[in-house]
Amino acid sequence: MAKINIAIDGLSGCGKSSTAKAVAKTLGYKFIDTGAMYRAVTLYVLNEAVDLTSKESVIQALEQITIDFRYNQESQKNETFLNGQNVEEEIRSMRVAGSVSQVAAIKEVRVAMVAQQQQMGKDKGVVMDGRDIGSVVFPEAELKLFMTASTEVRAKRRQAELREKGEEVALDEIMKNLEERDRIDSTRDESPLIKVEDAIEVDTSNLLFEEQVQKVLDLALQRIEAE
Ligand code: DC
Repeated sequence: MAKINIAIDGLSGCGKSSTAKAVAKTLGYKFIDTGAMYRAVTLYVLNEAVDLTSKESVIQALEQITIDFRYNQESQKNETFLNGQNVEEEIRSMRVAGSVSQVAAIKEVRVAMVAQQQQMGKDKGVVMDGRDIGSVVFPEAELKLFMTASTEVRAKRRQAELREKGEEVALDEIMKNLEERDRIDSTRDESPLIKVEDAIEVDTSNLLFEEQVQKVLDLALQRIEAE
């Protein structure tokens, strides 16, 4: 069967990554969470006390950063490694979430990440989620989706996720963070989050996780069959 690339863009916290992961698993495709890459750069910058307000300092720090994904057999999860260290947990913290949009708005950071992402998807058979996948990374992707959900639904899901990891955060704070990230991501000069013309919108507000996965799978299978 022909292999396609699936680009999933959309708002923060509406289940892009978990959906992409489940769809990739069923199709036997590679899953790539591009947000994890921007988060890993941000973690490095925060840990090394690089001045976030200085673009030049962040750009310089890029030279010291290597990011890769490794599959963990035990947890059956793809995990993010920063300079050889597993940072999968740390990059999901509120500390990183608070600064990642600022780092992701820097052109040179994006150029470096996009080049790696294009390399990862060059042989097709990839489900990639982010903000600029359908617009910049893979404008030729055979299937492009734009995922949305109400802010409240997204915040409640994120709160439950953080709680599971032992981080207790007020709903208000999460809603503010999501809205602020959407605002920065959608209004930045470099590759802003947009719904490209040929993307199919999937609103997950009223969908159970299994339903949203099934919806995306159905669309993917239709597209694969048409190839
Ligand atoms: O998907 P996420 O919430 O893990 O993404 C973290 C941040 O990274 C988000 O605020 C926007 C940014 N991002 C981006 O600018 N481009 C991408 N392709 C993926 C994420």
